[in-house]
Amino acid sequence: MKIGITNLKGGVGKTTLSINLAVCFAHMGYKVCIVDTDTNQNSLQWYGAREEGLPEVLVVGTTDPKALNKAVDNLHGQHDIIIMDGTPNLSEMNTRVMMASDLLIIPTRPGAHDFRAMNEFFTRFDQVKELRSDVAAYFLINEFDERVNLHRTVRESLQQHYDIPILNTVLKSRTAYGEASMMGTGVFEHSDNKAKAEMVALTNEILQLAEKHAFIQS
Ligand SMILES: Nc1ncnc2c1ncn2[C@@H]1O[C@H](COP(=O)(O)OP(=O)(O)O)[C@@H](O)[C@H]1O
Ligand SMILES: [Mg+2]
Repeated sequence: MKIGITNLKGGVGKTTLSINLAVCFAHMGYKVCIVDTDTNQNSLQWYGAREEGLPEVLVVGTTDPKALNKAVDNLHGQHDIIIMDGTPNLSEMNTRVMMASDLLIIPTRPGAHDFRAMNEFFTRFDQVKELRSDVAAYFLINEFDERVNLHRTVRESLQQHYDIPILNTVLKSRTAYGEASMMGTGVFEHSDNKAKAEMVALTNEILQLAEKHAFIQS
């Protein structure tokens, strides 16, 4: 299965999601690889900090859009799951990530939603769908706080504006995400049980989607 984590905005949780999903998949026994396509190379830096002895998550980096397909095809032969950590702009790389993915996950933060950027994103996505009608896309609401009115209405607002389903699992704002990232780990490998539980729920929800869309042969 090839998962693209993408959104035109930076700081919405693309890298956090990429590494935490990868860690959960690795603990479940899947062979998993992250392809870091962002010039800031945050996933690669995370890989540099990851200690030996933890379940293997390979991270490779390519910022050359023309190299992406070759890298993904090559890695796909040796891995069950490839996660592409996307770019925060409407670049050629972004289109290539969409084209190379079976499943696109679009993390969005309630306070930081940018309709104009999102409309541009979906114009590009529609063009990609003309070539690849089978790519499935889902929103993920990150840093959700149910006490904030705006956050509670964000789900309805996304549903009204876009024809893209929203994942049932939301991620809350938790210090464990930043701490785990700095140490080359995922929240699954830390003591914050709530963070761990929401990431496991998200991983399982994605595996169910993979089964529904037949991205993984079970
Ligand atoms: N659910 C969360 N709770 C707390 N901090 C988060 C959460 N998701 C992301 N962050 C933090 O927000 C910042 C931006 O996240 P990041 O994954 O790097 O975004 P992107 O890759 O989209 O630019 C990072 O410092 C990260 O640790
Ligand atoms: Mg990033």
